[in-house]
Amino acid sequence: KILIYDFGSQYTQLIARRIRELNVYCEIYPYNHTPAIDHSEYKGVILSGSPHSVLEEDAPNFDVSNIRGKMPLLGVCYGAQMLAHQNGGKIARSEVREYGRANLDFIYHNSPLLKGIPENSQVWMSHGDTILELPENFKIIASTSNVKVAAYRIEGEDTFGLQFHPEVTHSTDGKMMLQDFVVGVCGCSQDWTPESFVDTTVAELKEQLGNDKVILGLSGGVDSSVAAVLLHKAIGANLHCIFVDNGLLRKNEFEDVLDSYKHMGLNVKGVNAKDEFYAALEGVKDPEAKRKAIGKVFVDVFEKESKLVDDAKWLGQGTIYPDVIESVSVKGPSATIKSHHNVGGLPDYMKLKVVEPLNTLFKDEVRAVGHTLEIDDAILQRHPFPGPGLGIRILGDVTAEKVRVLQEVDHIFISSLKSSGLYNDVWQAGAMLLPVQSVGVMGDERTYENVVALRAVASLDGMTADWVHLPYEFLAEVSNNIINRVKGVNRVVYDISSKPPATIEWE
Ligand code: XMP
Repeated sequence: KILIYDFGSQYTQLIARRIRELNVYCEIYPYNHTPAIDHSEYKGVILSGSPHSVLEEDAPNFDVSNIRGKMPLLGVCYGAQMLAHQNGGKIARSEVREYGRANLDFIYHNSPLLKGIPENSQVWMSHGDTILELPENFKIIASTSNVKVAAYRIEGEDTFGLQFHPEVTHSTDGKMMLQDFVVGVCGCSQDWTPESFVDTTVAELKEQLGNDKVILGLSGGVDSSVAAVLLHKAIGANLHCIFVDNGLLRKNEFEDVLDSYKHMGLNVKGVNAKDEFYAALEGVKDPEAKRKAIGKVFVDVFEKESKLVDDAKWLGQGTIYPDVIESVSVKGPSATIKSHHNVGGLPDYMKLKVVEPLNTLFKDEVRAVGHTLEIDDAILQRHPFPGPGLGIRILGDVTAEKVRVLQEVDHIFISSLKSSGLYNDVWQAGAMLLPVQSVGVMGDERTYENVVALRAVASLDGMTADWVHLPYEFLAEVSNNIINRVKGVNRVVYDISSKPPATIEWE
């Protein structure tokens, strides 16, 4: 496998994804929390970019003496500058920040990193510093008209530096360069596939868990479902799944999803705890207080159910790689804006050990593994849905009646997205019930009823999002259907705010 040392660049995860798309496994570590190098396990190291400058006094610095010359090493952007700087090269602030597309007007094709790269290949630059002079034994292997040192190699070593970002798709041949590095130079084999992941993980889980019992909370979402099926493949009925109806799910969701879980052969218990949730939410208006109340009841219910499973040793969780990276990132966990992170979400009660079979995978890889496991597309392609469910889409206090109204609205919206073929173009969609009444006329009568807001966003990971330009005809039809069919709603609005600054959920 390949190691990626993160110096804080926004592109670091992209490096990992590109390499994994080549079916080569890699891991990211913050440069200041790196593992001991095991030369039999790791075949090469990549140093990422960074928002910092090597010229800053406290610039991130990493001693490569344990790696350089002993195994292949590739510095990208900041990584390349840091290597040059450490060896006496001259780095300076660029006159202008070099940002955007550029073309390689010199390519040394004999370099193992640039074999077969076409003349004038387009690359993506994003840097404020530039390498003015290279140390003695560093040799330029590519240039652009503005950036003489676009790529270099240290002579006699498999150490390379790239000033541009091969991981960004605007670097047209960047993936080929990464392939030349990880396969050609490092000698990695391209055998890391969803199938091989399933085989290895199931074997490891068998070994790790033996005859122990595992408890896992299902949510209907992609991650917990894939985690459950993997665990089930390894330990069968020793996996005890619990699926809690918190009364804040979508219309019919509890029954439908429970059915499909049973269909997959999972040993799953559905628990109807609606009333406990509604009781805890009574009169609670503040969003964070609602989240806390919902979280607390969930833990209580889950704990009670878990205790019914004799002698359980493990808690299974669907944690995925971005959660793990985030929790140990260079900058430390990012500031909590809303308290919704899954990592460490459940208290360490009952002294259960935690097993997280997906904690090395990105979301799209989880889906690919799900396909290999033949999990239904209805689950794999499902939009994300927040743990507190409709509880944070009913602004203000929550009642069973408001849940019923919002379920109907949401159902019309989501099923229309599906029937119009728009569902998969949208990353997440839902409806909010506003604590606002507005005046309307229906027939001859004046009405004074609820307003609902529809929201549909495009996003990669939920951190940023754009509102989706749904067709007017579609919105008109959905709005009509909602107002005509859902008693208690006389006005529909569409949310046209992007994140940031507006978050996806309204609470
Ligand atoms: P925001 O509203 O912060 O949402 O833009 C980003 C993503 O996180 C989801 N979300 C939550 N998920 N518990 C969860 O499990 C929560 O309390 C929570 N709040 C927001 C939201 O649905 C979106 O996908």
